[in-house]
Amino acid sequence: MGKSTVAKLLAQRLGILYLDTGATYRALAFAARQAGLNPVTDVEQLTSLGRRLPLELQPLANGSLQVLLHGQDISDAIRTEGISEAAAQVSQHADVRKAMVALQRRLANRQGVVVEGRDTGSVVFPRALYKFFLDANPRVRAARRQQELQKRYGTGISLAEVREQLEFRDELDRTRRVGPLVKPKGAIAIDTSHRRAPQVVSLMLRHICSARRSPAHR
Ligand code: DC
Repeated sequence: MGKSTVAKLLAQRLGILYLDTGATYRALAFAARQAGLNPVTDVEQLTSLGRRLPLELQPLANGSLQVLLHGQDISDAIRTEGISEAAAQVSQHADVRKAMVALQRRLANRQGVVVEGRDTGSVVFPRALYKFFLDANPRVRAARRQQELQKRYGTGISLAEVREQLEFRDELDRTRRVGPLVKPKGAIAIDTSHRRAPQVVSLMLRHICSARRSPAHR
């Protein structure tokens, strides 16, 4: 159970849109690869590609998002390990992040949304009404990711290898200068290691309901 499963389910329960910000970085990494750009060094070209990225996110009946680039469905193509790595690399650049944040704000389009992403509560939507910070221990996360890869590609990647890749990307996420992974002020932390997605969503809904009842609610 990953954070996107929880975000999708929460959006469904609330009857509002789900916005996966990771998909914007993945789509940029995909477009960059198509354009033959280097995700580490071609910063200017990546930024300009990011500013005019023809990306659409279409909600599907099952609560998932279809990711369209130039109208072409790239939903599966952006989930490979190669694109995961390139997405982590493109997301290191401050100017690229600015372009992606602008794109994410446009995609949210002033409606009620559940937005999922590492800097959404701190940078993209600092004034969000409700913020949650989900975390799980590294062993559980690696096992979940391995299961996801197995289901998606049927590949037999080892747990140790998955964990190493996750830790490498986590380190990049936490230590980058712009929009690092942090628990934003006022966010409610939920440890998902030993909870299933519906339980996590119930906890979130409970927090939302009690916050709405409190007099401090805006
Ligand atoms: O959540 P994800 O694995 O789909 O994200 C893919 C990459 O995009 C991840 O390595 C870090 C980056 N990312 C980010 O920097 N900021 C976000 N809000 C979402 C994702």
